[in-house]
Amino acid sequence: MMSRGVRHLMTVVLLSVLLLLFYLSLSTEPLSPLLRASPHSPSILNAQHVRQETDGKSNRYVSSTSKAKDSIKRAADDAATIKELRESYLFPPSTEPYNLEEPSNINPSMGQAQAIDYIFKAKRDGFYLECGGLDGEVRSNTLFFERYRGWRGLVIEADPANFAIMKTKHRRAYTSPTCLATTPYPSKVVFAQNSNRGHIYNVLTYDDAPAIGLVNVQCFPLYSYLLALNTTTVDYFSLDVEGAEYKVLETIPWDKLDIKTLSVEYFHDAEGKVAIKQLLESKGYDVYMEVTDPNNLANDFIFVKRELMR
Ligand SMILES: *[C@@H]1O[C@H](CO)[C@@H](O)[C@H](O)[C@H]1NC(C)=O
Repeated sequence: MMSRGVRHLMTVVLLSVLLLLFYLSLSTEPLSPLLRASPHSPSILNAQHVRQETDGKSNRYVSSTSKAKDSIKRAADDAATIKELRESYLFPPSTEPYNLEEPSNINPSMGQAQAIDYIFKAKRDGFYLECGGLDGEVRSNTLFFERYRGWRGLVIEADPANFAIMKTKHRRAYTSPTCLATTPYPSKVVFAQNSNRGHIYNVLTYDDAPAIGLVNVQCFPLYSYLLALNTTTVDYFSLDVEGAEYKVLETIPWDKLDIKTLSVEYFHDAEGKVAIKQLLESKGYDVYMEVTDPNNLANDFIFVKRELMR
């Protein structure tokens, strides 16, 4: 038989526990939407959450563009676009000695660079554009041209973790911690980091790699980068962006540029391989060959401007 005092005490304790639980349920933030987000529900993303998620491991290559700028759709060739790109997003070529993991590997490309060098008959002093650049060395399609053919170029890599490693390799190319836009104007995206399978988060790919990290990344149209570098001629454009290839190709003003050859990975695009081929064929290109690899480390078309093959 419990005394009245003990029962009273137990009631007070019970009520306190209930109150505490109620308080905790109010004060605990619901699970961040990012942690629950499925790869194809970007609508629940909000930029504020992304910044919170990434601030802990942010580095100086993470874009800090203000929200206000996102709403302005500046043309790819707008002077303000070019100025912003030049001043904030383009790093000049390194003048330091290379710091490569495997300096004796003359051509780490999976076959794309070998095909392009063959097409150009070992041409010297060309200009390349590579996106994504990964760490600037592993399976790089452009390092060979830089080291052994004296080409100049630009390497774009959206994942700040990969970009930071690339910077340590001292590429003699312009580098940019950004992404090729899928829009004909600069746009900011959420980028899903995943080593060599990172991609723009809301681009529907048919085999989406899970996001290991999510970061805000500033994208510019391809045309803007070339104008920022005072060129409209590209000898070789290596495009490998894990699913956004078709959409990037759609933004290119082909009549204003002279892109002579391309390698385009077709494996991850929701639009499909045939659509990529047809798009480039309609722009005056022919498939020269396909470069594939048994472990899917390459699934690329090599395109050559039709007039060059005559
Ligand atoms: C491009 O031209 C501008 C203006 O003449 C110049 O300031 C800039 O250094 C040039 N950039 C490159 C990469 O050639």
